[in-house]
Amino acid sequence: MTDPAGAGRRQAGSAAQPDLVDVNTDEVSIARVYDYCLDGKDNFAVDRAAAQAMIEAVPETPLLAKANRCFLRAAVRHLVGEAGIRQIVDIGSGLPTAGNVHEIAQEIASDVRVVYVDNDPIVLAHGRALLATDNRTTVIQGDLREADAIFDHPETRRLVDTTEPFAVLLGGILMHLEDEEDPEGVAAGIRERLPSGGYLLVSNTCDTGEPRARELAKAFAENGMGNRCFRSWEEQIRYFDGLELVEPGLVPNNRWRPGPDVPDPDNPAHALHIGGLGRKP
Ligand SMILES: C[S@@+](CC[C@H](N)C(=O)[O-])C[C@H]1O[C@@H](n2cnc3c(N)ncnc32)[C@H](O)[C@@H]1O
Repeated sequence: MTDPAGAGRRQAGSAAQPDLVDVNTDEVSIARVYDYCLDGKDNFAVDRAAAQAMIEAVPETPLLAKANRCFLRAAVRHLVGEAGIRQIVDIGSGLPTAGNVHEIAQEIASDVRVVYVDNDPIVLAHGRALLATDNRTTVIQGDLREADAIFDHPETRRLVDTTEPFAVLLGGILMHLEDEEDPEGVAAGIRERLPSGGYLLVSNTCDTGEPRARELAKAFAENGMGNRCFRSWEEQIRYFDGLELVEPGLVPNNRWRPGPDVPDPDNPAHALHIGGLGRKP
C-alpha cells in the first residue's frame, strides 16, 4: 500500500477480492506499527512515527517483534508437529507477514484449520486477499473482549469443532488491554472454552523492572499502544491458571525452543518480551 502525502481515510482491498474496508491513515494502528517493526510495507507515516518513538526509547524494539514471531512459529510447530493440534484460532493475528501461522502449520499437516481474528479492518482486507483460494484458513474481524462473537461466527464454526482440542493464540494482544478491560478475566474466559487437551499461547512485553522497560512502556503509552503494555512475569503467569505449562514455561521469546531464526539471540533486551504455551489437562 502506498502512502501519498496528505492521505486521509482510504479504502483497502485487493484485485483478488476487493473489500470496502475503512482504513484510517491519520490514527496509529497497532497492527501497522507492528508491521513496520517486522520490516513490512503495510504502514503509514503516523505508524512509522510511533514506531520510531519506541525505537528511540529502546533501539531493540524491532528485535522484540521479530523474536515474538520466532516464538510463535516455534510454538505452532510444537502444537501441530508434537501435540497433534489441527485447529487454531489466532486472535490479534496482525497483518500477514513472513511465516504466517497457517503456512507453518499446514507445512507440517495440510489438514490444519486456522481462523485469524483481528479488530483492525486492515487485517481483514489483507487476509482475505492472501487466503482467497484457501478453504481451511479464514480471517474474520472480531474483538478479543467479545469472545462469544468470535466463537459464534459462522466461519469459526465452519472450521473449528470446539468439542475437539484446539489452540488459541494470544500473541502480543493481552498487553494492549487496560486494567479495566480485565485481561486476566479475558484470558480466563478463553481457557474455559478449551476442552481437555486444548492449548493457550500468550506472549506480551514484560516489565522486568529495568529502566529500559520503563522507558519503552512510556513510549508505548505515549504512542497509542496502551497504558499497561508492560506487566510483570508474576502478573502474566496468571493467564495460564489451571493449565500445564509446556517446557520451558513462560520465558523470554528468544529462550522458547529457539531456532536459528532468532535475531541477535544473546541480546539482553530479549527479556522485555516473554511467551508461553499452556495445555488444559
Ligand atoms: C502486536 S500485534 C501481534 C500480532 C501477532 N499476534 C503476533 O504475535 O505476531 C497485536 C495485534 O492485536 C490486534 N488487537 C489489539 N487489540 C485487539 C482486540 N481487542 N481484539 C482483537 N485484536 C486486537 C491489533 O490490531 C494487532 O494486529
